[in-house]
Amino acid sequence: MENILITGGAGFIGSHLVRLMVNKYPEKRIINLDKLTYAGNLSNLEDVAHKPNYRFEKADICDYEHMQQIFAAHRISGVIHLAAESHVDRSIADPFIFAKTNVLGTLALLQAAKEAWKADMQDKLFYHVSTDEVYGSLEHGGFFTETTPYDPQSPYSASKASSDHFVRAFHNTYKLPVIISNCSNNYGPYQFPEKLIPLFINNIRHNKPLPVYGKGDNVRDWLFVEDHARAIDLIFHKGKTGDTYNIGGFNEWKNIDLIKVMIKVADRLLGRPEGASDDLITYVADRAGHDLRYAIDSTKLHEELGWLPSLQFEEGIEKTIRWYLDNQTWMDNVTSGDYQKYYQQMYGTRITG
Ligand code: NAD
Ligand code: TYD
Repeated sequence: MENILITGGAGFIGSHLVRLMVNKYPEKRIINLDKLTYAGNLSNLEDVAHKPNYRFEKADICDYEHMQQIFAAHRISGVIHLAAESHVDRSIADPFIFAKTNVLGTLALLQAAKEAWKADMQDKLFYHVSTDEVYGSLEHGGFFTETTPYDPQSPYSASKASSDHFVRAFHNTYKLPVIISNCSNNYGPYQFPEKLIPLFINNIRHNKPLPVYGKGDNVRDWLFVEDHARAIDLIFHKGKTGDTYNIGGFNEWKNIDLIKVMIKVADRLLGRPEGASDDLITYVADRAGHDLRYAIDSTKLHEELGWLPSLQFEEGIEKTIRWYLDNQTWMDNVTSGDYQKYYQQMYGTRITG
């Protein structure tokens, strides 16, 4: 049986990818390696955890010896690496854990793969999942392509850019077979409510203020998470070794416009009159160094491998809001305990002024 190691499989995007691959490839063993930080949640995978081709390994990617043991124990032939610290605001509050996990953790995993595979790199692949934020901020129009120079602006994007560089260095130096993809903002079920969309849906439900950073005119390109998982699966199987692929939704939204759509759909689904939650919008102090605009050109992925997003945004956002409203137990579980402390630290003084 072919063994594929997915790191960060208990997180948001990782859980969608694990679900897709466990169901689509019963002949392949999918090993989910995750440290289960605040962002990792095994209940995201309840529907596939019992399947015979699924395994879970609780481990820290920074623990090199443990990574070596896992490669030895499972004869891994492919890695899809998603484990990371992923939230920009947390990276501003504490950059060290971002350097540790995203840079040193990726390095430990690369080294373990290289050592395990050095006798025979044939039919092996280290696929690194990265972000469009490594390219910086598009202040004057245009799109990020695969050849846009790196220009990371936040501690999060600096750590991801650094990890991308290590992946390319291992390809160049040790001939490790690698692929990198850089994707735009994802949305959908199972996203931790520190990110804009699930946080705002939860606040609308509880009639809490919606903290819009700055004037709300920053622009993001949103992609439904299952479309990202499909792209990763396609690139993992059909992509060209050594290459980079950009993945995006061709779907740019100014934050404030997106927030207004969310309020409208959520109010309708909650049976509230139109406009009932408009007053929850609260403009707060801007994020430090807030990138103005991200926009991805994913023409290469479309032309080479035929990928396109499957969902229209209107459909995707309604599906997403409905999911969070229907899954309050999931939301209540992840917003109990430490989350309250996080929320207070991040938003307490911002919202009360
Ligand atoms: P997430 O924060 O929801 O999940 C991260 C997962 O990694 C969690 O399950 C966590 O427990 C695990 N993890 C963290 N540190 C670990 C460690 N030291 N060892 C093992 N596991 C550890 O993140 P996400 O939004 O699902 O993002 C997944 C990947 O995709 C990240 O690499 C991120 O940079 C990238 N990405 C995310 C987006 C997005 O919009 N969310 C967009 C583009 C790229
Ligand atoms: P986020 O979901 O954190 O993703 P990223 O920073 O990686 O793009 O934020 C998306 C956008 O929403 C970003 O421009 C920051 C903004 N934002 C707010 O205005 N208020 C919030 O409380 C959060 C979390 C984000």
